[in-house]
Amino acid sequence: MQAGELTISPLPYYLVSLVWKKILSTLTALFVIVAGLVLGFLYLRKPATAPPLDVKVEVTPERLDRGRFLFERLADCGGCHSERDFSRFGGPVMPGGRGKGKVLPPDLGLPGVIVASNITPDRETGIGAWTDGEKIRAIREGIDREGRTLFPMMPYTNYRG
Ligand code: HEC
Repeated sequence: MQAGELTISPLPYYLVSLVWKKILSTLTALFVIVAGLVLGFLYLRKPATAPPLDVKVEVTPERLDRGRFLFERLADCGGCHSERDFSRFGGPVMPGGRGKGKVLPPDLGLPGVIVASNITPDRETGIGAWTDGEKIRAIREGIDREGRTLFPMMPYTNYRG
């Protein structure tokens, strides 16, 4: 080595890279934690749901007729919610099976076993204990009595209008 030649010791570089490594690993850890918290929050949070309407729908013969028409024809609630005999042409509703619920056939290509719920007025197995507001909310907004969202095969988005 000649006099006056600039020498650089490797030590400071080593220290500098050590500090950078620390900073980078701390930042990475922070990023992973924050991203985990954000994703966890998005995954766990419930969608905003309105409380059920506080209404009592008066039962009249006209409303019953209209309901039957909606159930059996226009909205075809029974297409999913009634027990039907698909061994017969057109899959007619089984006796006493109207609105009783149905395990939807797996060959429809569904992601698992989907059950269209029992929506008869039975208080135990059906929705007889639900208030009118809770029924309206389920049909229009897809929220069940406990505030859970219904699987969107239940076509509530079509029933909103
Ligand atoms: C294309 C099939 C389909 C049609 C048509 C359909 N539903 Fe549904 N419905 C479902 C499925 C599947 C569920 C269960 C969703 C879940 O458990 O997440 C459901 C759930 C419900 C529930 C909630 C019951 C509970 O116990 O949580 C009600 C109420 C309901 N439907 C009423 C109706 C009415 C009234 C109509 C007609 C206006 C209708 N549905 C038409 C498939 C359908």
